[in-house]
Amino acid sequence: MNLEELTKTFDFTGRSIVITGGAGILGGEMACALVGCNASVAILDRNLVLAENLVKRFETNRGRHLVVCCDVLKKDTLEEAARRIVAEFGRVDCLVNCAGGNNPRATTGGDLSFFTLPEEALRFVLDLNLLGTILPSQVFGKYMAEQKKGVILNISSMNALRPLTRIPAYSAAKASVSNFTQWLAVHMAQEYSPSIRVNAVAPGFFLTEQNRFLLTDKQTGALTKRGQKIIEHTPVGRFGQPGDLLGAVLWLLSPMSEFVTGVVLPIDGGFSAYSGV
Ligand SMILES: NC(=O)c1ccc[n+]([C@@H]2O[C@H](COP(=O)([O-])OP(=O)(O)OC[C@H]3O[C@@H](n4cnc5c(N)ncnc54)[C@H](OP(=O)(O)O)[C@@H]3O)[C@@H](O)[C@H]2O)c1
Repeated sequence: MNLEELTKTFDFTGRSIVITGGAGILGGEMACALVGCNASVAILDRNLVLAENLVKRFETNRGRHLVVCCDVLKKDTLEEAARRIVAEFGRVDCLVNCAGGNNPRATTGGDLSFFTLPEEALRFVLDLNLLGTILPSQVFGKYMAEQKKGVILNISSMNALRPLTRIPAYSAAKASVSNFTQWLAVHMAQEYSPSIRVNAVAPGFFLTEQNRFLLTDKQTGALTKRGQKIIEHTPVGRFGQPGDLLGAVLWLLSPMSEFVTGVVLPIDGGFSAYSGV
């Protein structure tokens, strides 16, 4: 489905949606689609230059947007962001926890074995992906608990289902994001309201800044052996494009999925279904 078809299918008029890491490649694509569907979108990121460039892509006659500088690992900046968003948009209907990623120093290979991966790099990856999902869920989930309504969407990964080689912290962190998604779905429904839903998408392989060094050769741009293996193991035969996530993301944020909570949905061109034989 292209963007025009998606924006005709989904209408988020009057709904306020927060995207952490919203200036990044995947979060930015979601922000564009949601503004196109008339949502009020708050882009939370620490990279304001990227955020301002993203805003130039928005359709001017649709939706609303707000850029807020925020670090998902600093609760005071999240709380300040929440106050600004509520002052501007009146409420928070959805949270997309998109800030996350790996780090080359937490990746085995070259000068780094598993035994020498620096502790600070491991901690960085574990914190960014897991705590960086839990802390915004605490801050924005509280507003949803008070409203007795809301949707949280986390971003897990293929490596949560079965770990990928070389990236132990990232694999463990994303497995924790999937586990936390199920935990929070049950907790919100039982303790606050069955109208608060929590789900995740598990993207397969999308060529972005954080994995480009693993999947393509810096000099030539050709696929690395790892990149080639991934394509061979993906029945659809290609990497994902950011737009491939949109149908599932809009559906999970919309009332069309109101009986869906606690799921982790693979969007991977069939990677997780293929045994390799
Ligand atoms: N790309 C893939 O193939 C793939 C596959 C599965 C899952 N994912 C997940 O999808 C999500 C988005 O990934 P992406 O590929 O779009 O990566 P990206 O382009 O690097 O986007 C991540 C964004 O989050 C921001 N960010 C990082 N740390 C932050 C912090 N502490 N506080 C606030 N913002 C912060 C980054 O800003 P800076 O530029 O300042 O770092 C960046 O704008 C991540 O959770 C990633 O793990 C990606």
